[in-house]
Amino acid sequence: AQVVNADFIKSSVRPDDCPRDGLPEFALVGRSNVGKSSLLNSLVRRKRLALTSKKPGKTQCINHFKINDSWYLVDLPGYGYASAPQVARKDWDEFTRNYFLSRDNLVSVFLLIDASIPAKKIDLDYASWLGQNKVPMTLVFTKCDKRKKKKNGGKRPEENVECFQNLIREYFEAAPPWIMTSSVTNQGRDEILLHMSQLRNY
Ligand code: GTP
Ligand code: MG
Repeated sequence: AQVVNADFIKSSVRPDDCPRDGLPEFALVGRSNVGKSSLLNSLVRRKRLALTSKKPGKTQCINHFKINDSWYLVDLPGYGYASAPQVARKDWDEFTRNYFLSRDNLVSVFLLIDASIPAKKIDLDYASWLGQNKVPMTLVFTKCDKRKKKKNGGKRPEENVECFQNLIREYFEAAPPWIMTSSVTNQGRDEILLHMSQLRNY
């Protein structure tokens, strides 16, 4: 299930512009700054294949990366970034949701949730929207390396994750599969790659 090679293919702002070779793909989505681009780099063992930033709003397009010449990882703009211009935010939100609804070769969405902070309503709402639209989903908890700080209410990542799981149960009959990760320690990397290979059937 390991990544042997990874190539940036293209940036698109409409589902129609995305690659048309029909290879299976997995998309990374979540709040701005949750660590989508960092996770992609961790999965492919490259430092700067996908561009990351301390400032939210870095990724602004649908970015396709071809893995082992046979499937795609897709990096997406984040949602919930209050400081981006309203027009840009609405635009990102529209094309990512259209992408989810129209992309036939999308095997599963990986919805990233920051485990270093308490559960946020915007994430529960996003999960619920994906569920209602029958978009297959895996939950990925990020930043599990981050320890207690004043700003996260003194909770450990494990406690935040448990709280999120309890809340999400109210939205789903069967809770989606979930994986704990860190792009700093590479926790969860093998688990995600194995899960993806099982979903692709090879
Ligand atoms: P947008 O493209 O703006 O939507 O953000 P993103 O979700 O792609 O986040 P990105 O990967 O750019 O990371 C945002 C910040 O979080 C960066 O400063 C990263 O170094 C940091 N970060 C990402 N993953 C982790 C992690 O697992 N642990 C820790 N401690 N920091 C992380
Ligand atoms: Mg990004």
